[in-house]
Amino acid sequence: MTLPPNAVQTPKPLIGDKGESGENRMTTPQPVRAGIAGLGMGLPERVLTNEELAKFVDTNDEWITTRTGIKERRVTDSATATSDLCLIAAKKALADADMDAADLDLVLCATTSGDYIWPATASLIQNALGAKRAGAFDLSAACSGFCYGLATAAGMIQSGAMRNVLVLGADTLTKQLNWNDRGTCVLFGDGAGAAVLTPCGYEEGILGSVLGSDGSGASSIWLEGGGSRNPLTPENMESGLNKLTMNGKEVYRFAVEIVPACVRESLEKVCLRPADVDLLVLHQANVRIMYAIADRLQIPHEKVYVNVQKYGNTSAGTVPIALCEAQQEGRLNRGDVVVTVGYGAGLSWASNVIRWTKGE
Ligand code: UT7
Repeated sequence: MTLPPNAVQTPKPLIGDKGESGENRMTTPQPVRAGIAGLGMGLPERVLTNEELAKFVDTNDEWITTRTGIKERRVTDSATATSDLCLIAAKKALADADMDAADLDLVLCATTSGDYIWPATASLIQNALGAKRAGAFDLSAACSGFCYGLATAAGMIQSGAMRNVLVLGADTLTKQLNWNDRGTCVLFGDGAGAAVLTPCGYEEGILGSVLGSDGSGASSIWLEGGGSRNPLTPENMESGLNKLTMNGKEVYRFAVEIVPACVRESLEKVCLRPADVDLLVLHQANVRIMYAIADRLQIPHEKVYVNVQKYGNTSAGTVPIALCEAQQEGRLNRGDVVVTVGYGAGLSWASNVIRWTKGE
């Protein structure tokens, strides 16, 4: 039997050099961190504005704008699944990193709306990319997923277990919405973002992360049906268990309380303070939440990246999409301290402190 190409991986030494006569000579491996070498995003073309939404939902542009900051969102058609958006994002991220898919060691996809319940969406992406050497798995941490993914991939790269990791954050939650529930259906959009992580110097890259969870709040935002607790029977679907439900006020309170403490802790871990932050890239759910978090940290609003007005809440997609657009706008410069933060269902939260490695 011939083994598939990814069954046996030849380990590459992280650090090696040539002796004076040109012979290969192993040196003591230098400690490394993981840096973001490339970013990409994938969005459906269809734009759904607040005005259009108000034609079939009992809502209006004024309510949505003042309560959330959202003006429009992107919506996938029935033929498009999460992996399709991921593929667009992944190809752009690889091109940005100047890397071939064949050089990836791992594809890690953070999503709660994968193409299927199983197998992993990451495996579909790995195949479509032709990432023949790469392992692949999904990570389920809802809107915190991409930040959980960065922490996971960074640990693998720092340990020397992996070299090149593609981390994706992507969701198509519009397929899970109850369009009769105006408290949720106006908030979400579809989208994917991707980051290529590679080893970098020890003083830069992902310096530290904090991960948190409080499962006692699981029912504050969840999709109850489709798993082993409530399989998708006609009765469960009739009861609406196949649709996302949320207690908005509970999630709002949780975010404003927990996230500032999480950011502070992640900065303290690496001996930095909120005043050292150059760009705060928060999960884009609601501009009021973002500014309330920044105020508690005494970080000026100009340092908070905001694009929720264009895409709504794309769940695991918000942070990598925001990073990608921030890079396009020239807001990420080499040496900058960038803090990425996710929070949401679980309840879960995560923060990464990054010294930016890319650019001038
Ligand atoms: O990624 C996961 C993270 N999720 C979040 O971060 C969401 C966090 N929560 C929120 O952002 C806010 O709680 C919402 C934006 C969801 C809601 O804002 P709110 O200020 O908490 O509004 P509310 O739910 O207390 O509703 C206030 C009023 C209600 O009317 P009455 O009972 O006061 O007459 C709602 O029925 O607004 C009404 N309402 C709407 N009106 C027009 C709720 N949704 C809508 C709507 N259009 N879409």
